[in-house]
Amino acid sequence: MQDIRDIERIAVIGAGLIGSSWAALAMGHGLNVSAYDPAPGAEEKFRHTVERAREQLAALGLANTGQYQFTNDLDEALQGVDFVQENGPENESAKRALLSRLDAELPPEIIIASSTSALLRSTIVADCRNKRRVIVAHPFNPPHLVPLVEIVGEDEAIVDRAAAFYRSLDRRPVVLQREMPGHVANRLASALYREAVYLVEQGVASVAEIDAALCNGPGLRWALMGPHMTYHLGGGEGGIAGYLAHLGPSQVRRWQSLGTPSLDEDVQQRIIEGVAEEAAGRTIAQLEERRDEGLLALLRARKLVSE
Ligand SMILES: NC(=O)c1ccc[n+]([C@@H]2O[C@H](COP(=O)([O-])OP(=O)(O)OC[C@H]3O[C@@H](n4cnc5c(N)ncnc54)[C@H](O)[C@@H]3O)[C@@H](O)[C@H]2O)c1
Repeated sequence: MQDIRDIERIAVIGAGLIGSSWAALAMGHGLNVSAYDPAPGAEEKFRHTVERAREQLAALGLANTGQYQFTNDLDEALQGVDFVQENGPENESAKRALLSRLDAELPPEIIIASSTSALLRSTIVADCRNKRRVIVAHPFNPPHLVPLVEIVGEDEAIVDRAAAFYRSLDRRPVVLQREMPGHVANRLASALYREAVYLVEQGVASVAEIDAALCNGPGLRWALMGPHMTYHLGGGEGGIAGYLAHLGPSQVRRWQSLGTPSLDEDVQQRIIEGVAEEAAGRTIAQLEERRDEGLLALLRARKLVSE
């Protein structure tokens, strides 16, 4: 069985937003990358994204010694690679066909990891002959900065090996015990977004104020500890058991009042106008720049806290 220390070259299959970020991360950690994307103009976009990401990784202290080769020939991209990260379009039949082709062409010991956000592993591996080595490894955008990788697989040894590989890239793998649409983190995000939209629908506060309530309150703590641990501290001396006994019933009452909004035209329009107001003329590129600068600062701060 392949040792993760033998992984020196990875294939990034589908080199758009997520693929180029994965590529930058791998190169940041000294791995070489074979990038494949069939779209015209993809190489130029890839180069641009990778250059920017590499500067950010250098600011985090990474050596950036890895190199890449870009091709629009899939067979060429798979030559001599030790690990595959698939980041093609989020479309069930396309993903299924792509994974089955990768599975047919790669030696059996190579792990094939799909970045899929919302497709079930059991569905997308359906046409693969060697299903065990095909896993879901779902990152959070942008993967070169956000540490989380959610892993779904069926073979414990393969999942362990993949988790060790992502750890070697300074990521934080979270292994699911069974598959679930949206995995874990996007379900948590969707639960929160459902309520954020409900609050807009109900006219409780403006889009900008709802966003501010999150970033200036719970969001600050959530970068350091999740909801269970947060409530463990909310229970005082009694910890989580004390919290559940004391404030559990009020949580249940609040759950009963949470909403399921519609996303009809009116609600959509209110969200779109609210976001435009909050963005205050800043372009998506400017907002991304600000997000990434903030993420870099947060990552440095988290390091200080955990040291
Ligand atoms: N965007 C996100 O926030 C995010 C986060 C986590 C995971 N993901 C997942 O990552 C994957 C890629 O998403 P993205 O946001 O990078 O999309 P994207 O559109 O930026 O990139 C997809 C790339 O796949 C290429 N492609 C098209 N056909 C292909 C084929 N047959 N083989 C290989 N590549 C092909 C496209 O040309 C494109 O460059 C999806 O599965 C998505 O669910 C996305």
